[in-house]
Amino acid sequence: MKRLLPLLTPHGSRSRMTCTFRCGNACDHPVPNPTDNPYFGDVVAAAVSRRSLLKGSAAGALVLSAGGALAAGPAAAAAPPQPEGSTRPLGTRVDSLDFEPVAPNKQDALVVPRGFQQAVVAAWGDPVVPSAPAFDFEHQTPAAQAKQFGYNCDYSTILPLGRSRTGQERALLIVNHEYTDEILMFRGWTDGKAASLEQLQIAMAAHGVSVVEIERVGQTGRWKLVTSGRRSFNRRLTATTPFVVTGPAAGHELLTTKADPTGRRVLGTLNDCAGGTTPWGTTLHGEENFNQYFEASGAIDPAYVDAFKRYGLPTGPAAGKSWARVDERFDLTKNPHEANRFGWIVELDPYDPDSTPRKRTMLGRFKHEGATVTLAADGRAVAYLGDDERFDYLYKFVSRDRYKRGSSATIHRHNMSLLDAGTLYVAKFTGDGTADGEYDGIGGWIPLTSDKKSYVPGMSVAEVLVNTRLAADKVSPTKMDRPEDVERNPVTGSVYMVCTNNSSRTASQVDEANPRPANKHGHIVEIDESRGDAGSLRFDWRLFLVCGDPNDPSTYFGGYDKSKVSPISCPDNVAFDAAGNLWIATDGNALGSNDGLFATPVKGPERGHVKQFLTVPLGAETCGPIVSQDQRTVFVAVQHPGEIDGATPEQPASHWPYGDQPRPAVACVWKD
Ligand code: FEO
Ligand code: CA
Ligand code: CA
Repeated sequence: MKRLLPLLTPHGSRSRMTCTFRCGNACDHPVPNPTDNPYFGDVVAAAVSRRSLLKGSAAGALVLSAGGALAAGPAAAAAPPQPEGSTRPLGTRVDSLDFEPVAPNKQDALVVPRGFQQAVVAAWGDPVVPSAPAFDFEHQTPAAQAKQFGYNCDYSTILPLGRSRTGQERALLIVNHEYTDEILMFRGWTDGKAASLEQLQIAMAAHGVSVVEIERVGQTGRWKLVTSGRRSFNRRLTATTPFVVTGPAAGHELLTTKADPTGRRVLGTLNDCAGGTTPWGTTLHGEENFNQYFEASGAIDPAYVDAFKRYGLPTGPAAGKSWARVDERFDLTKNPHEANRFGWIVELDPYDPDSTPRKRTMLGRFKHEGATVTLAADGRAVAYLGDDERFDYLYKFVSRDRYKRGSSATIHRHNMSLLDAGTLYVAKFTGDGTADGEYDGIGGWIPLTSDKKSYVPGMSVAEVLVNTRLAADKVSPTKMDRPEDVERNPVTGSVYMVCTNNSSRTASQVDEANPRPANKHGHIVEIDESRGDAGSLRFDWRLFLVCGDPNDPSTYFGGYDKSKVSPISCPDNVAFDAAGNLWIATDGNALGSNDGLFATPVKGPERGHVKQFLTVPLGAETCGPIVSQDQRTVFVAVQHPGEIDGATPEQPASHWPYGDQPRPAVACVWKD
């Protein structure tokens, strides 16, 4: 169906925060895609019951699901399981969207709608593994941080865990720790060169992933960290945890280093941003802005300069975070291949706390926002993958083999191999060819490589996977306005691609899929794969939201009356509830208010009725979002509260959540 959009008008460019805190994508570094390609912009299935670890758990394991709910088809998530013996009134379900919108604000608080409550579940420094000490801001150590909840929580998901001995519902909360704000973590911080080695090691230990058990509080929608008793699932991944490299590029010469001549064993994961939850009960984590961790003490081997440039890595002497002072592998002059060992999708099996996490090379290497898995009509696994950089691309992986249902160890091993063989594609969006203000069209998936055969001339399978951006540049995909989360709606089957912003797009570079120059508020593209099959190689697309102040004529809210919607800017992470409503978290609100979480129906007369559900504290971005399977609780990751230029521990810009130094945290919101 065609939808009419108003003529879009150029905005003045406005860069948001400078790069004091991170090399995110909003700063003014050069755009690394120099090509002249066209500018066209379930529930975790019953598989969890397979796990022998859970077999001793009480019944009713499917209490919660990830926000990134998965389904083999649109109907699969239509009837969410409810907690046993549930007699709760419908009024506590969030998927009814019957809340009064929170007004834009600049409060240093997590502001939720009237009638709702909120509480922190886990904050930076909270004990994760047994023997972890209590958090002490003034006496941090690397050893303590490696056992505590990390910094800057991003992707968050929940897997069911049955009930405790006392009958309380339990779950696993898995959380990415994307990066660190050293200037807010340490008093007197100037830079990595002046830092103590211990401070650098603390920062390295504050990266990665946390797995923690959580428990429902009473019969409420509130959840809390389990801080006592058996904690066999709790674990931390950090910048030094051993990983195994799998898939076609594992062992390739480009992945070998002095410390690892096998090219198959990597220490650590970095800049894990968003992610996904697989139907077989594992979690995926996207290594995003990994380039910022690398430095160069001298020249770079000329053989690597072109690729390094395309990934924003040093091409000559350059400073990084000074981690080479702790471990020489971060110096690309001495260890050029070390950078090739980051920028992958990580797969973690949270139900097996002794398992070694994998880096899945078949899903390509770029600044992975995340990976969300759904199933094709024939049962193959499909992963949608965004490369979060201005003018970069949307990718899709389709597995060779089919997902198997079942609970045996053999079936689990089979499903754990799905992401190692298949085909990696990149997307091309084509408009309908008319300059009539309609923003929709068709598109296709261009193959880059399978596990056996490269489709890119002059590049082998492994080369395509290691330098995926260089490979994609050769097949003319569409340059997008920073593809962040890309996720399939488990109720409708449509796929939503979030383009967060792109202040660098000029008027001559606009296209129908990226229609706004100096796009500072971002937009969301709705994709319908042919025949509703995620395994298809063709799709239809249309813009669902063009974000900003609804009074701005360039905005579009799915055709809904713009006088009745909440302003929204810089969409980033998304989730779906049981009704198929789209929940949208924002990062970098360019309208002057705090970031927040919004919800909107995507079908029917309320399509595009965007309402703000919460706002996060000063300086924070909103990540995570999860709507619990019983629709009673919304979880959000509050990333970098107080991250405002000039803020320090002596002069914090935020005191959230406990009134002293700001601490990134996952919070839950519920209605009693
Ligand atoms: Fe880490 Fe693309 O946001
Ligand atoms: Ca993100
Ligand atoms: Ca972001």
